[in-house]
Amino acid sequence: MKKRVFSGIQPTGIVHIGNYIGALKNWVAMQDTHDCVYCVVDLHAITVPQDPVAFHENILRTVATLLAVGIDPKKSILFIQSDVPEHSELAWILNCFVYFGELSRMTQFKDKSAVRGQGTSVGLFDYPILMAADILLYGAHEVPVGEDQKQHLELTREVARRVNSKFPNLFVVPDAYIGKMGARVMGLDDPSVKMSKTASSDSNYISLADTPDQIRNKFKRAVTDSDTAVRYDEDKKPAVSNLLTIYSAFSGQPVDAIEKDFTGKGYGDFKKALGELVVEKLQPLQKRIADLLKEKQELDAILAEGAQKARDLAAPRMKEIRRRLGLGR
Ligand code: TRP
Repeated sequence: MKKRVFSGIQPTGIVHIGNYIGALKNWVAMQDTHDCVYCVVDLHAITVPQDPVAFHENILRTVATLLAVGIDPKKSILFIQSDVPEHSELAWILNCFVYFGELSRMTQFKDKSAVRGQGTSVGLFDYPILMAADILLYGAHEVPVGEDQKQHLELTREVARRVNSKFPNLFVVPDAYIGKMGARVMGLDDPSVKMSKTASSDSNYISLADTPDQIRNKFKRAVTDSDTAVRYDEDKKPAVSNLLTIYSAFSGQPVDAIEKDFTGKGYGDFKKALGELVVEKLQPLQKRIADLLKEKQELDAILAEGAQKARDLAAPRMKEIRRRLGLGR
């Protein structure tokens, strides 16, 4: 029996090369070794206000992006969270096992609520519980998550153990999966923070939807370090090291081979080559995304099938959970 993996991605519209290299490449690779369930978490996204028209476009664009990078609906279950109402139901139940203080201590909540102030929704507070429900509903053994979601996964594990202490073996306690390809990509304008679509400037990231000229320009403007050598040194040369990581991920070459190719050349040449490399690699991907978005019926059929497969797993699980807790008839 293969181990089950669950992971989710928010449909915010922008998927950047950090998501692609750091997370999605692992999602694709795991399809051959695991039983994978991948979810576009639209219910998580409404914890902050969304414009319905743009939001819906973003959901479909995210699905198209996942398909384009290589998520194969024949190998994996790919679906949209709100198509499976059991996620919300289990989230409610788990709410009753988690304490106010625990959610108050989540660093992501503290950061986001500090920005939103009085506009902080209860949903934003409850976000980690919905995430726990996503994972526990499918009995996932492993969850690929980035650094920023580790605390949420820790809470998921704690909730699973807590419920299990009253209702033995009800939930699988999931492990974090640290991917082989798990490169951490930092901001192009600031290598001390992770590449992020919520960064204050869009020079921070390369979106999979950026045009060739945007990509070239962003790499051209990317910050570098004080000396001139193209050499990997995370402590002393964080900016160039980050660019080398990106070069290596897109070319498939090890970092030392790239360093050799660029000995005696300056940052300018290196950044230019990097821009061309990324443009060349992203172009076919961008074309596939655009083509998929034109095939709305085909997308819909894929999602309907994914939702059905997910519900076939979720519904009996939910029935069992209700029964064990003594809910209902
Ligand atoms: N919170 C995750 C993020 O923002 C997305 C997510 C939702 C998720 N449910 C999940 C990730 C379940 C892993 C497992 O990245």
